[in-house]
Amino acid sequence: MTSSEQIFNTLVLPYLNHAVRTYESGYASVTDIDAAMRFGCGYPKGPLTVVDEIGVAQVRDLLAERYAETGDHLHQPADLLEKLAAEGRTFADEAAAAAGGAAPEFKHEIAKVGVVGTGTMASGIVQVFAQAGYDVVYVGRSQEKLDGVVGYITKNLDRAIAKGKGTEEGKAELLGRLTGATTREALADVDIVVEAIAEDLELKLELFRDLDRIVKQGAILATTTSSLPITKLGEATARPGDVIGMHFFNPAPVMKLVEVITTPATSAEVDETTRALTAKVGKVGVSAGDRSGFIVNLLLFPYLNDAVKLAEGGEELATIDAAIKETAGFPMGPFELLDVVGNDVSLAIQKELFGEFGEPGFAPAATLEAKVAEGKLGRKTGEGFHTY
Ligand code: 3HC
Repeated sequence: MTSSEQIFNTLVLPYLNHAVRTYESGYASVTDIDAAMRFGCGYPKGPLTVVDEIGVAQVRDLLAERYAETGDHLHQPADLLEKLAAEGRTFADEAAAAAGGAAPEFKHEIAKVGVVGTGTMASGIVQVFAQAGYDVVYVGRSQEKLDGVVGYITKNLDRAIAKGKGTEEGKAELLGRLTGATTREALADVDIVVEAIAEDLELKLELFRDLDRIVKQGAILATTTSSLPITKLGEATARPGDVIGMHFFNPAPVMKLVEVITTPATSAEVDETTRALTAKVGKVGVSAGDRSGFIVNLLLFPYLNDAVKLAEGGEELATIDAAIKETAGFPMGPFELLDVVGNDVSLAIQKELFGEFGEPGFAPAATLEAKVAEGKLGRKTGEGFHTY
């Protein structure tokens, strides 16, 4: 029987180390890494704040113990932990040294928003923009799929009304701002398009070529892809400067994070407007470059994959879920979250990360592969790691 503390050390310490290395590599700031995990995953604190609280030297020592046991490079304390411990500095000091930067401003007028897709993410994104007062045109392949978006939003609004957090009038107004369409031509005059169609490069390339043909010049073309190269989507158009990533989290109406992903071609104005828009719709934006996993998935999925490997060693799923919620304060245990995200999505992301970084420790857990092969994808199929 493993103690909660051992489960924390096995799953959470490597995640903290990974966060330190992500900062150390210059990919994202201390503030953005911490905000990403708080607002994207509902964690009570960001990983670098947690390192400060445990103590930089203590985290280094605990990792060194783990590294001595496993020999896994991912458990070897990051050089920066050594450095900060030696200098008596913290991540809060690093963040303070980098503080500054004015709030982003709109460089484009955004009045009308387009969304492409009718799945869970697209439906949530339509709700987010309409809730913020924007007129939204959303495009799907059939009337039935368009009705599904209205059904999803209606269900959420009804739940809010039942809790006394909304009114029938407010719901009618919000739904009145939505226009569904089964042809992309309806997007001709929108100021920004956010696409949330299937995570398939060929499909997205075809869509971006079409958006380039249809949508007015000067509009922003955004994708909520979590794993495909946004640079390639930009290159599929004659206006790569207007192409950017807006990575929302599941469930989009609830999770407050948007990762704003610029490619080398994205213009500074498009970046700033997208960050201003993110704030306007009540979300917290963090900035990162076009690389597999961005911030959140890079830090989240290796931890989820480690949890599957720990269970393969004989640990009970419920024990791991409970230990993580108790010791780390995460809102869901790893298996509960895997079932929400979907094992197919999780496996695809883990494969991307393994491909991009080549870390042996990122190799997808055998059980994750097996769950997908058996069609046990999570809540959406009634069974994943847990049964629903
Ligand atoms: N749609 C809309 N609203 C929802 C919802 C949904 N699917 N699920 C819950 N809500 C709302 C509820 O109505 C409630 O609203 P209120 O506070 O205004 O009353 C609020 O969210 C809290 O819901 P509950 O009290 O029912 O449930 P919990 O307190 O258990 O919170 C949770 C649910 C917010 C989902 C929380 O468990 C959480 O933060 N989980 C972590 C989720 C996470 O990590 N997501 C990121 C996954 S990775 C990803 O998306 C990246 C991609 O690339 C794969």
